[in-house]
Amino acid sequence: MTARALLPDLPAYSTLKDQAAKLQFASLEDLFNADSNRANTFNASAAGLQLDYSKHLLNASALSSLLQLAEQAGIPQSIERLFSGAHVNNTEDRPALHTLLRASSGDGQEARFQEVCSARERMQIMAQRLYRGEHTGYSGATITDVINIGIGGSDLGPRLVTQALKPFHGNVQCHYVSNVDPADLLDTLETLNPATTAFIICSKSFRTEETLANGLAARNWMLNAGATTADLDKHFLAVTTNLQAAQDFGISAANCLPMWDWVGGRYSVWSAVGLSCAIAVGWDRFAEFLAGAEAMDQHFRHTDAKSNLPILMSLLEVWYCSFFGASNHVVLPYDHSLQRFPDFLQQLTMESNGKRVSADGRQLDYATAPVLWGSAGTMGQHSFHQLLHQGTLLCPVDFILPLNTHTDAEQQHRILVANCLAQSRTLMVGRSLEDATKALTERGLGDDEAARLAPHLVMPGNRPSSMITMQSLTPHSLGALLALYEHRTYCSGLIWRINSFDQWGVELGKEISTDILARLEGTECGNAMDAATERLINLFKDAQQ
Ligand code: F6P
Repeated sequence: MTARALLPDLPAYSTLKDQAAKLQFASLEDLFNADSNRANTFNASAAGLQLDYSKHLLNASALSSLLQLAEQAGIPQSIERLFSGAHVNNTEDRPALHTLLRASSGDGQEARFQEVCSARERMQIMAQRLYRGEHTGYSGATITDVINIGIGGSDLGPRLVTQALKPFHGNVQCHYVSNVDPADLLDTLETLNPATTAFIICSKSFRTEETLANGLAARNWMLNAGATTADLDKHFLAVTTNLQAAQDFGISAANCLPMWDWVGGRYSVWSAVGLSCAIAVGWDRFAEFLAGAEAMDQHFRHTDAKSNLPILMSLLEVWYCSFFGASNHVVLPYDHSLQRFPDFLQQLTMESNGKRVSADGRQLDYATAPVLWGSAGTMGQHSFHQLLHQGTLLCPVDFILPLNTHTDAEQQHRILVANCLAQSRTLMVGRSLEDATKALTERGLGDDEAARLAPHLVMPGNRPSSMITMQSLTPHSLGALLALYEHRTYCSGLIWRINSFDQWGVELGKEISTDILARLEGTECGNAMDAATERLINLFKDAQQ
């Protein structure tokens, strides 16, 4: 790989530094006053989603420099490389073809697309049998509950999608177990009947300790309930690239759906990893989910950067992270069914871009992925929004707002919407000392007391946020939303010069855990540890006596 210029060496970088130095003191309200059309111009839409980025510390010339940065970072060419199957995951020498999983044609990837289509057909048959109540268990009773056992990308995506599409659920309840803490599985099994429960062991590698431990426990639960080993075929499905390991586990080839090494776990919900979602909502809805993502893919691939949602959102991320020193990014979905969205995005963005060397192995001396966190509105308003409004950290926010509710509680939904708009506006306008003092005197406080308290009521404002709206949360808009963030993540990785598709940083912890487990089990073959870890190992052993 030829060495590419790192971010600080791109020509637009120094201009952007200067622009950021000025804009950090700009008033958002002044920016609106200077441009009566700002609310309309700093807006873009695609695939049923609208992005309003008018409440950002950004003017036309900084935006133009950011667009130049995107060009200089080679984003247009890299988008083509992504879609055409180039080995964008260079450290693992693979493409990252998650877009093919939701494509309606092969577009140069015919052989892989054929594999995707035949896996989709098998997945559709399995999903529909369960969705329609045609799949029966060892006692002949219909399967009513499906438990997806997986972790990371084999859990967060399907869990989010199933929860987000609750209004579209059929009769089968889908549950998710990921934690190796036995309480997770036990809590889930508590109310379930083995005769009417099926498991999907979802693991790209089929080597993940947590998933295998939970899978074995699930198998024992089924056998202890009276199922024979021959019956297990009615209750266990697998999704994996490692078909042999799944079969060794006891899941027949007919019950295994494939994955491919050219799809990263955190980008895999569009594959058979989404089987539980398709069982929950039925195949037609799942196909709409894929179509929503494909619509975003088309937009991303064919739209000029200045109107391209993923590129614009990536430029905003880079703007604050690399030019304002923001180390946090907050995502606030104002829709209860999206409450798991921040969890999903944490893996997507931080496992993808939480890296300290460039794709070609050079150490980076600048910040990469910010810490992403958030929760469903309005809950956060009563916990961490205090920090967003008056804390000392710069935390750019993405508000996500479906404009219609699936419930018939329209008045209550209006309260939700009002809160979302109010938070976004409050972050922007804040409250001056003068207004704070006035508010206190209007409450009947004397001048001295008002002067004493007023500084505590001051809100600096000028805190940036985006607003992403959609008509309502449907399979289509959800697919588009997830694909939007996937592509945003890719673009930010390109600008920071990192490979967004590997995750070497998770390996060492797994190896050390294996060593420590050997020690906890009493085998002394594990490697010697540092004094603090040795002490903790002994503490654990003593506690078992
Ligand atoms: O440990 C991190 C990770 O490898 C993720 O990248 C992945 O999504 C998760 O573990 C689960 O892996 P698998 O699907 O192979 O069980």
